[in-house]
Amino acid sequence: TAQQSELIKNSIKSIPDYPKPGILFRDVTSLLEAPVAYATSIEMLANRFRDTGVTKVVGTEARGFLFGAPVALALGVDFVPVRKPGKLPRPTISESYELEYGTDSLEIHTDAINAGDKVLVIDDLLATGGTIEATVKLIRRLGGDVTDAAFIINLFDLGGEQRLNNLGINCYSLVN
Ligand code: PRP
Ligand code: HPA
Repeated sequence: TAQQSELIKNSIKSIPDYPKPGILFRDVTSLLEAPVAYATSIEMLANRFRDTGVTKVVGTEARGFLFGAPVALALGVDFVPVRKPGKLPRPTISESYELEYGTDSLEIHTDAINAGDKVLVIDDLLATGGTIEATVKLIRRLGGDVTDAAFIINLFDLGGEQRLNNLGINCYSLVN
């Protein structure tokens, strides 16, 4: 409901000039410190994707874990972590993505997604969409079917939603 979205929005602190002058940083750690609002955010995401046939939830290190894992538990499906390089113990595949300066990469366990899995991607925040584009590519390389990504916050002026729509991904966000 709009009231639930408002509760979540009001629990997210905005920090001026972090990490650099001129940036207004939306701080999701303040939502974690508001248990009713945090639980509401998990409930809203789980309700949206219950009975949609999702078989796995993928969350991206680190903040994606804080929302993806509870939603997977609420839906009764697997949680699959996408991690920064060198952190996953079984065989992996990797995708690089652009950062403001240079590139980084993300990895997933090769055996964590099977052909035919219907995968929901969850992260705390959508900015440029680079992180989730790399995550979607990893899932698709393993044969997973991914059409939806969900976020607590969409920084809509950074163009991430359009970028993901161009890849065939619908975006669902609790707060804009
Ligand atoms: C942040 C955030 C998203 C991503 C959004 O993660 O949690 O994953 O950036 O930006 P984008 O849409 O422009 O890709 P960060 O890379 O800072 O890592 P962290 O979760 O480990 O803090
Ligand atoms: N908050 C958190 N993470 C971010 C932001 C923000 O405002 N912008 C880009 N990544």
